[in-house]
Amino acid sequence: MNNKVTRNTYRPIFPTPAGLVVSIDADGKPNIITLGEIFNLSIREPVWVGIAIRESRYSWELIKEQKEFTVNLPPTALLNAVRGIGVYSGRDVDKFAKYKLTALPSKLVKPPIIAECPVNLECKLVEFHHVGDHDLFIGEVLLEHVDADKVQANGERDESKLDPIVWLGRGFYKLGEKIGEYEGVKGISRLPKSK
Ligand SMILES: Cc1cc2nc3c(=O)[nH]c(=O)nc-3n(C[C@H](O)[C@H](O)[C@H](O)COP(=O)(O)O)c2cc1C
Repeated sequence: MNNKVTRNTYRPIFPTPAGLVVSIDADGKPNIITLGEIFNLSIREPVWVGIAIRESRYSWELIKEQKEFTVNLPPTALLNAVRGIGVYSGRDVDKFAKYKLTALPSKLVKPPIIAECPVNLECKLVEFHHVGDHDLFIGEVLLEHVDADKVQANGERDESKLDPIVWLGRGFYKLGEKIGEYEGVKGISRLPKSK
């Protein structure tokens, strides 16, 4: 039995995290944008992430010019900030000040990271593509920061403590219960050998 209907598709893939991306202007003033279009592209060799931004956003301009950004993954406690940062433009509002977020200096790029987010990625722009109603910025992740209390002894992030904001396109959600564990790739490793 087929109970399916078709619909005019819009933003078909879900969920994604709601992420906060920080860029800077020519004077070094930082700005933040909320992004749902944020994804892994290459996960180890190299670590590349993609973010898709509309040309009308102030952040589009800043990343195109300065070629660096940080990705910050907020916990659910920052929901209010995530929503507001996704409404106001840095052309009009200092969003670090308005949402009382702390800018910590990055080590390898000029845009700062956000202290209140448990995971922060320092990224250098490596590719830019016009793809449609958004444009794709690809960043190489030069460095990952994680809150010390959210890292296990083996160096893995403690997934149970990250509390990400899950975005489905209209609503924000908190993660539910864990229902399984990844057991690793069986047989031949698909990873290329390290040089
Ligand atoms: C949950 C959420 C997800 C969003 N995702 C994106 C996105 O992926 N790309 C984009 O260009 N704008 C996205 N926006 C809208 C921008 O965050 C918003 O236009 C912001 O005010 C732009 O800020 P700026 O002008 O300072 O760069 C999103 C907004 C929200 C609330």
